[in-house]
Amino acid sequence: MLDREHSWNWLSVALCILLALKPSGCKDLSGSRPNILLLMADDLGIGDIGCYGNNTIRTPNIDRLAEDGVKLTQHIAAAPVCTPSRAAFLTGRYPLRSGMVSSGGNRVLQWAAVSGGLPKSETTFAKILKDEDYTTGLIGKWHLGLNCESSSDHCHHPLNHGFDHFYGMPFSMMGDCLYWDISEKRAGLERKLNLCAQILALAILTLATGKLTGLVSVPWMPVVWSAMVAVLLCTISHFTGTLIVHADCFLMRNHSITEQPMLFQRTTSLILKEAASFIKRNKRGPFLLFVSFLHVHVPLITTEKSLGKSLHGLYGDNVEDMDWMVGQILDTLNEEGLTNSTLVYFTSDHGGSLESQLGNHQYGGWNGIYKGGKGMGGWEGGIRVPGIFRWPGVLPAGRVIDEPTSLMDVFPTVVQLGGGQVPQDRVTDGWDLTPLLLGATIHSGHEFLMHYCEGFLHAARWHQRSTGTIWKVHFVTPKFHPEGAGACYGRGVCPCSGAGVVHHDPPVLFNLSRDPSEAHPLTPATEPLFHQVVERVAQAVEEHQRTLTPSSLQLDALNNIWRPWLQPCCDVFPLCWCDREDHQQ
Ligand SMILES: *[C@@H]1O[C@H](CO)[C@@H](O)[C@H](O)[C@H]1NC(C)=O
Ligand SMILES: *[C@@H]1O[C@H](CO)[C@@H](O)[C@H](O)[C@H]1NC(C)=O
Ligand SMILES: *[C@@H]1O[C@H](CO)[C@@H](O)[C@H](O)[C@H]1NC(C)=O
Ligand SMILES: *[C@@H]1O[C@H](CO)[C@@H](O)[C@H](O)[C@H]1NC(C)=O
Repeated sequence: MLDREHSWNWLSVALCILLALKPSGCKDLSGSRPNILLLMADDLGIGDIGCYGNNTIRTPNIDRLAEDGVKLTQHIAAAPVCTPSRAAFLTGRYPLRSGMVSSGGNRVLQWAAVSGGLPKSETTFAKILKDEDYTTGLIGKWHLGLNCESSSDHCHHPLNHGFDHFYGMPFSMMGDCLYWDISEKRAGLERKLNLCAQILALAILTLATGKLTGLVSVPWMPVVWSAMVAVLLCTISHFTGTLIVHADCFLMRNHSITEQPMLFQRTTSLILKEAASFIKRNKRGPFLLFVSFLHVHVPLITTEKSLGKSLHGLYGDNVEDMDWMVGQILDTLNEEGLTNSTLVYFTSDHGGSLESQLGNHQYGGWNGIYKGGKGMGGWEGGIRVPGIFRWPGVLPAGRVIDEPTSLMDVFPTVVQLGGGQVPQDRVTDGWDLTPLLLGATIHSGHEFLMHYCEGFLHAARWHQRSTGTIWKVHFVTPKFHPEGAGACYGRGVCPCSGAGVVHHDPPVLFNLSRDPSEAHPLTPATEPLFHQVVERVAQAVEEHQRTLTPSSLQLDALNNIWRPWLQPCCDVFPLCWCDREDHQQ
């Protein structure tokens, strides 16, 4: 904790040196508080962008950010799926601390009408910066809950977590929003309808046989009537389910629903317009704007002009479309003369989804040389994501940093740059990145990083400073399907627990510095330090676990089931249908 208390002073000194040429730069640091623009992609793989080694996909705007700023090559998400990773990002804490995980299979918040969500007691960086007189805005995806007790209490809404302004999707993109074959919900509902129909058919057949053979003696009419009622119930519940799935694809502006379901052909332009108007309105600063893209999650909504332009099908088109959006937002900053007074950050919430496949077509991201992908807590491909910071004139241009860093580091970094204080009444897991980005220190604060899958610890990483080695220890790994495929094809995502995982004793060890693809597990026979490393990491895990306090798991069963009275609906439920976009502004 001491380090963190001192880092603000420390930062003052560093900034003083850097800003020494500016008159009075040293005395009044509030004058140097930057605007903060955070850009987060959804499901983007680290191997999908040019400056991380992709030479066939065109991402010139993101690449330029890296050229003009600092690129992190070992930037790690705290979880391999949306809800927990985003909770950790906003709070600077492992998602288990805020309860934003489940203990049994619910990887993310499942519906807009669940009662789980980011608890009130959590403090986001937006809340702290708002208290430091920043104007704070979130544009795009939230997926951290909405209501607790009624369909409009908005207890988990971004406006109750420190954002002054919200425009976007409270829930999440899904293939189902566009009736895709890659389906999160509809496919499941259809299976249930089939089951319903089969049970009914069987019941009717049994009765009919019974009657015809004279074994059952009930009159025909009640049988026919109950069969009809059952068919009706099956059908109604199925269509209600489908309507709800579709109703979950909605847009909100602050507390009001503006489009339900969304009209995707205009979503991208609305998001860009909103970002531009936020920046223009707040150019006197300071502001914090978090643009949380709906790209590149399925169903890959792509602007007309990007369609068919990439070498990688619809997925590639969508990545290039998002890069174009990044360019548009940076252009607005520039036009408003804000480039040098704004810290820009780009990242993805976790790795690319390998299982988003239909036939031979890949609709999910590429994780480069890293093993695994979205949904896998331990393997590098699920959690190693792009991380780029740009602040011209303050951060060096073109610096590349290979130290382990975390998305959770953004919390203390922006809080301290904004003149706020990291909360002292709770454990936080991020480290202020400013000294590392400035080049004033060579090591990040992370000696150890824990890699969770839901509430289960799957792996841990150790930066052993004495040998300069990054070790990775896996305690649990998912069973791939088919075996050796590197993913769980046909299963959505790989599971975190149960029969779908393997527990390793002794654990599986890699020297990530030499073997970043985790292809060559070390054994006590091949690695003389094996036992020593495994023991040291186990000790760190134990120390980490002692800092955990039980919290109510927001993603567990009861908090994560659909509740009719929580369904956000702009009309008469279940016909939630409206377009109020034109009446706003
Ligand atoms: C670039 O990205 C595409 C799309 O994800 C992927 O198919 C391709 O393999 C990547 N190429 C390289 C060289 O990483
Ligand atoms: C959202 O509410 C804030 C605070 O009341 C306001 O400043 C902002 O303009 C609102 N946004 C929209 C789009 O109405
Ligand atoms: C912004 O910073 C860069 C890098 O220090 C500098 O070259 C440029 O002149 C600055 N632009 C403005 C408008 O101050
Ligand atoms: C791990 O790999 C790196 C890179 O090859 C190497 O420099 C380092 O010595 C290795 N660590 C150990 C302890 O063998």
